[in-house]
Amino acid sequence: MLASDSARKFSFNRLISNGDLVIVYERHDIMKAVTVSEGSVLQNRYGVFKHSDWLGKPFGSKMFSNKGGFVYLLAPTPELWTLVLSHRTQILYIADISFVVMYLEIVPGCLVLESGTGSGSLTTSLARAVAPTGHVYTFDFHEQRAGSARDDFERTGLGNLVTVGVRDIQGEGFPDEFTGLADAVFLDLPQPWLAIPSAAKMLKQDGTLCSFSPCIEQVQRSCEVLQISFTDIRTFEVLLRTYEVREEKLEDDGSNGSLPCKRKQCSDGGNLISSPISSVMARPCGEAKGHTGYLTFSRLRCL
Ligand SMILES: C[S@@+](CC[C@H](N)C(=O)[O-])C[C@H]1O[C@@H](n2cnc3c(N)ncnc32)[C@H](O)[C@@H]1O
Repeated sequence: MLASDSARKFSFNRLISNGDLVIVYERHDIMKAVTVSEGSVLQNRYGVFKHSDWLGKPFGSKMFSNKGGFVYLLAPTPELWTLVLSHRTQILYIADISFVVMYLEIVPGCLVLESGTGSGSLTTSLARAVAPTGHVYTFDFHEQRAGSARDDFERTGLGNLVTVGVRDIQGEGFPDEFTGLADAVFLDLPQPWLAIPSAAKMLKQDGTLCSFSPCIEQVQRSCEVLQISFTDIRTFEVLLRTYEVREEKLEDDGSNGSLPCKRKQCSDGGNLISSPISSVMARPCGEAKGHTGYLTFSRLRCL
């Protein structure tokens, strides 16, 4: 997924080889992650696709099935992974993730602490942001969930950038070994206020913290605790408006002053008849995502 694996040297120009993870793209809302295995096939409504046909092709290739249907083979990125990963929990999506990475000032070389790991959706983007020299330590108290996340990070090539620990962060706090070392801490926990004193202890001077909570009551309780040792406390709700872009045929003759359209002369009577032309239209999606949660950011108060 990243140019951090020296053995496999990922690059978008690299050709697909056996064992690679590819994102099989049918439509923007139908994709799946597949590990290429010579001898295997992918079957979908468009037919049967032989993995052996994919070997040696560049990422982004359009591949045809036995029935002439096609899919695209995309290189895995955190953005795509968030859309295809298996949901073991609620996850953070792209709008919140991008805001978190930016606002927490996460750059290559950072040490980031996170809890809970959940499905690893945010962790994947945190890992790319700190690569190649930083590290993400992520903790979840659910052993099986932590194990599945660990497997996912290996599968996506992020194993060397992420360490998953099993720990009750609300009860025990982050491990003492990180005291004063973290550039940023991210919390997605049901009672984040319980973990905030430990997060403050882990942060470097001027370090940043973000807590994601779906309910405003959680935000209020967190802010009360944040005020003890943090400054610049700000809460955001990221609302995303998606537009559907599609080509539509227009039959209008233009007389109502709306969009222009082509006219052609008919061979029989010389009448002007409007001929359908197409235009690309963008309109807000009917089922736009609304509230996901509140992102509360703060900075450790300097002594
Ligand atoms: C909503 S999920 C996190 C989703 C994650 N941000 C993502 O993008 O995939 C919350 C996680 O917190 C974990 N959790 C809840 N309480 C915890 C605690 N006290 N210590 C550690 N993890 C906890 C849960 O097991 C769950 O996996």
